[in-house]
Amino acid sequence: MLNHKSFNLGLALLALGGLALAENQLSAQTTATNFPTYLRDVKPLFLGKCSRCHNNDSAFLPNWSDYASAYQNRLEIKRRVWDAWKGNYYKESMPAGNCPECQTITEADRALIRDWVDSGAMLGQPANATPAKSKTERIEFGKGLFTTMCATCHQPAGQGVAGKYPPLANSDFLNADKSQAIRVLLHGRQGEIVVNGAKYNNNMPSFPLSDEDIANALTYTYNSFGNSGKEVTAEEVKALRAEKFQSETPVKSAPSQFE
Ligand code: HEC
Ligand code: HEC
Repeated sequence: MLNHKSFNLGLALLALGGLALAENQLSAQTTATNFPTYLRDVKPLFLGKCSRCHNNDSAFLPNWSDYASAYQNRLEIKRRVWDAWKGNYYKESMPAGNCPECQTITEADRALIRDWVDSGAMLGQPANATPAKSKTERIEFGKGLFTTMCATCHQPAGQGVAGKYPPLANSDFLNADKSQAIRVLLHGRQGEIVVNGAKYNNNMPSFPLSDEDIANALTYTYNSFGNSGKEVTAEEVKALRAEKFQSETPVKSAPSQFE
């Protein structure tokens, strides 16, 4: 029969074992940079490939620009983005319909969302936790954002899509005035616009991006595709964010934009 002492010792060993295990799991989670995380990987993808339809203006569609709602909806997100696409779930796969997001989302993007959910849907850290220290760094950080977010509509080389998405390559609108470009990013844009002599009348949603992110995405754009090479700083974005915004037509991202 177990005496009191050895019973206690057994308990202590068990507890130690449990602790060691918990610690191992913890360090595996905190050090594993190979698992996708919300702030670094998943949020930019949601912004670029979901938020035109899933956003704050939409009365009936959920929006995942904050971690709490993304985490809460994670299982359905995975089912719609991965399982339905593979034919293993009965509801419509996402992104919906035959939209630009559907055409630009890659299998790797879909797998990333699946793996994020399967590995515990961690919050993580943003890709660029510290502000860019130089123009070169802004361009580098901005490239990542451009690829996941802007290229969906404006295309990877910024050439745009005739009649739908104006070009960012050699764009006279972009190069004419930094403030105008910053306002497009801060507030979205809807209505008629003439870029390089061609008319567009469509809708760009506003993305919940930080001042740093907007500065980086625009600096990358200004320093690519034959544009003027300007730098946009976070201070410039901050100053324009503070102004009272007047739009001739209310900027709204409604899912009436389905193509
Ligand atoms: C072109 C517009 C559009 C895009 C882009 C889009 N969705 Fe949707 N989504 C919809 C519509 C419309 C519905 C509602 C109809 C339905 O449930 O099928 C919906 C529904 C959903 C639902 C079910 C919500 C619920 O509460 O039942 C999920 C999850 C979802 N979308 C995920 C995504 C993800 C993730 C992306 C980006 C990778 C995305 N969607 C991109 C239009 C879109
Ligand atoms: C969902 C599609 C979509 C995404 C994603 C998108 N845009 Fe746009 N963008 C548009 C549309 C549509 C217009 C024209 C809006 C109008 O008709 O008023 C536009 C206009 C612009 C303009 C002004 C016109 C021009 O061609 O110079 C700039 C600058 C711009 N976008 C930059 C960006 C940047 C930078 C990103 C990424 C952070 C981005 N956009 C992401 C659709 C998009």
